[in-house]
Amino acid sequence: MMSPALKVSELTKDFGGLRAVDKISFQIEQGELVGLIGPNGCGKTTTFNCISGLLGMSSGRVDVLGQDATGMRPDQIQNLGLTRTFQHTWLWREMTVIENLLVPTRYQFAPNMLLALILPGSRKAEKQRVIDAYATLDLLEISHMAHSLASELSGGQSKLVDIGRALMSSPSFLLLDEPVAGVAGPLAERIFQNLRSLTSQKNIGMLVIEHNMDFILRRDIDRIIVMDRGQILMEGTPDEIRGSRRVIEAYLGDTETKE
Ligand SMILES: Nc1ncnc2c1ncn2[C@@H]1O[C@H](COP(=O)(O)OP(=O)(O)O)[C@@H](O)[C@H]1O
Ligand SMILES: [Mg+2]
Repeated sequence: MMSPALKVSELTKDFGGLRAVDKISFQIEQGELVGLIGPNGCGKTTTFNCISGLLGMSSGRVDVLGQDATGMRPDQIQNLGLTRTFQHTWLWREMTVIENLLVPTRYQFAPNMLLALILPGSRKAEKQRVIDAYATLDLLEISHMAHSLASELSGGQSKLVDIGRALMSSPSFLLLDEPVAGVAGPLAERIFQNLRSLTSQKNIGMLVIEHNMDFILRRDIDRIIVMDRGQILMEGTPDEIRGSRRVIEAYLGDTETKE
């Protein structure tokens, strides 16, 4: 039997006296697209930080494709096949879109990276990376922006490039932290459609944080995990979550505390 793409067991994270994540467990299969939602400050990003090795966990265990990733460094976890994006997108602003996808090569600081790569005699693997980068832009429907400077992109376009960059590491599993925050409705919808087709085309698992509950409950995704105050409040299909009083109350509580 195939191992789950990601398995989180009783993950706990304390910041001093604050328990940000409280013994959460869940698992995601390859090819599955799962949403992670919950009120502000409920522990979603901290969960990602622990899974990706950016923060040490206080207790618990994380397995990536059947391998124990507990206590590993971020680069080691990435080598297992797990890649993440951040809530605040960061691109090389003075580089083009295609160059941003190619950055983790040894040509990172060359003045004219693309030219260097297509000259005769350049290494086959590097050429293959360029081909892969264009294919990735195709998949995300942003090929026409390949040679635009990152600084010229809208927030939504930057999000897509960021996802493309994550895909360039050929991940088996992707953690996306609010990939459509600040993105206009129709584009946000398309990004989700593209994520959906990516999971099936490449058979990768994805866990996607989204703050807008109304938005994610209307998307074509397999499952939603709802967090509240560091714990998992509920797990279910979008339909099941939509009908849940507990979930609605958790969000109403969030609104009240902000007022
Ligand atoms: N590095 C940190 N140090 C101390 N407290 C933190 C740190 N990161 C997050 N927190 C706290 O942990 C809780 C969960 O935060 P976070 O995971 O960012 O929530 P979410 O992403 O769900 O909005 C919040 O109370 C936040 O203030
Ligand atoms: Mg967050």
